[in-house]
Parts: sequence; structure tokens; C-alpha cells
Amino acid sequence: MADQPQPRTLLHSAKSLDEIVVIGGGGHAKVVISILRKLNRHRILGYTDLEDQGAVLGVPYLGSDRALAVKAVGPKKLNAVLAVGQVGLGKPRHELWARLHSLALSFPLIVSPDAIVNEEVSGGEGAVVMDGAVINSGATIGRGGIVNTNSTIEHDVLLEDWVHVAPGATISGHVTVGRFSMIGAGATVIEGIKIAAGCMVGAGATVVHDLTEPGVYVGSPARRIK
Ligand SMILES: CC(C)(COP(=O)(O)OP(=O)(O)OC[C@H]1O[C@@H](n2cnc3c(N)ncnc32)[C@H](O)[C@@H]1OP(=O)(O)O)[C@@H](O)C(=O)NCCC(=O)NCCS
Repeated sequence: MADQPQPRTLLHSAKSLDEIVVIGGGGHAKVVISILRKLNRHRILGYTDLEDQGAVLGVPYLGSDRALAVKAVGPKKLNAVLAVGQVGLGKPRHELWARLHSLALSFPLIVSPDAIVNEEVSGGEGAVVMDGAVINSGATIGRGGIVNTNSTIEHDVLLEDWVHVAPGATISGHVTVGRFSMIGAGATVIEGIKIAAGCMVGAGATVVHDLTEPGVYVGSPARRIK
């Protein structure tokens, strides 16, 4: 008897989405959730936070770190995205990551489909690249970094780990930004500058000289105030 045609199922077209947990339920998390939805690679299980913020864009609260510890037990690692913002000289993202490091979590690099990322760009685990960001060839984004909305990371820039480039900031070619530094909204760093670890560059500042000491810098040209 001739083979019967197999009934067509949706199995081949069904996309199985990896599960992901959003860590943090504040403003930055909202933007990250929207990006995850546009990417459509993950099924968002919920978010964790120290406190219940209610549903965030429809994403339910799972609990605090303990809820993650219950879910992230392996052997397959659970995806998580660090969606806690980092403004100023604190290190909340790193502290959170370090606290959760013993869990079976994986922190994939999340890049908005509405960002432009050119060739030979590398990005570290737990980094997020938001809508409208442009990252040009040869740039490196370190672990846990935030390349925020409409910022520009020019060619051959090195953002060390846990750097936040705020919305609309421009980092020109061959700049190095040290660990835990933040470049404020709309700030400009001219080409070739080296910014030490632990520097906060204020919103709208223009950095035209190397910043060799950690501290807070504002104005054009940027000067240290703290
Ligand atoms: C630079 C910054 C961190 C300073 O914050 P702060 O330590 O709380 O400092 P203060 O607000 O006490 O301001 C200290 C002085 O610097 C001035 N100043 C602060 N930020 C400034 C800025 N961006 N540009 C110019 N001057 C600034 C203040 O007017 C004040 O001057 P005064 O002493 O003459 O009154 C903050 O103002 C800033 O720019 N943050 C960036 C915010 C941002 O980019 N957010 C993006 C979120 S995604």
C-alpha cells in the first residue's frame, strides 16, 4: 500500500522560544522588556525585584533573588537579563551579577533589532544595546554594559565591563572607557580619549582630555567637580 501522505502539523513552523527572566522591575526594565518582545527570541517568564512592582508591561512579578534560585537549578542554564539601570558611580549591575553568579543563569547579550551594529563588534555577557544605538566596526562592549537609546559608539571604541553609555551620548573612534564609568545623556567624548575606571561624565559634557582619575566630570570641556 502506498504511503499515506502525512498530515501537516505546525511542528516545523512552531518556534520554540527560550525562556528568560528579567532582573529588575523599574524603568530600564520596561525598555528591556519591549526590546525582548521585538526580538521575539525569548518567552519572558516574569521579572524579579526586591519588591513587587505589580505587572510591568504585563510581565508578572516572580519574587526576589530567591525566586531565581528556585528556577535556576540547572542542568540547563536559565536565561536572564540584567534590567537594572546604573546611573552615577554605584555598581548595582555588577553587584547583582556577582550575587547571582553561583546560580545556573546565562546572561545573553541583548541587542535591539532597531540598533545598528556593524562588523567586528564584540559584546560581553549581560550587555544590552537599546533602540537606535549605532555601534561601528571594531568596537568592543564589555560585560554588563548598557549602550542606551540613540547613543553612538564609534569604530574601535573599547567599553570595558559595566560601562553605561546613556541616551544620545557620542563616543568617538578609538576611545577607551574604563570599568564602571558612565557617560551621561548627550555627552560627547572626542576621538582617542582614555577615561579611567569609575568616572561619571555628566549629561551634555564634552570630554576633550583624558580623564585619568575616578570622579564626577561636567561641562564643556569636562572638568572634575567631585
Ligand atoms: C553629573 C551628575 C552625575 C552630577 O550629579 P550630582 O553629583 O548629584 O551633582 P549635583 O547635582 O550636586 O551638581 C553639582 C554641581 O554640578 C552642576 N552640574 C550637575 N550636572 C551637570 C551637568 N550635567 N552639566 C553641567 N553642570 C552640572 C550642578 O549645577 C552643580 O553646580 P553648582 O555647585 O554650581 O550648583 C548629574 O548631574 C548628571 O549629569 N547625571 C547624568 C544623568 C544621565 O545622563 N542620565 C541618563 C539616565 S539613562
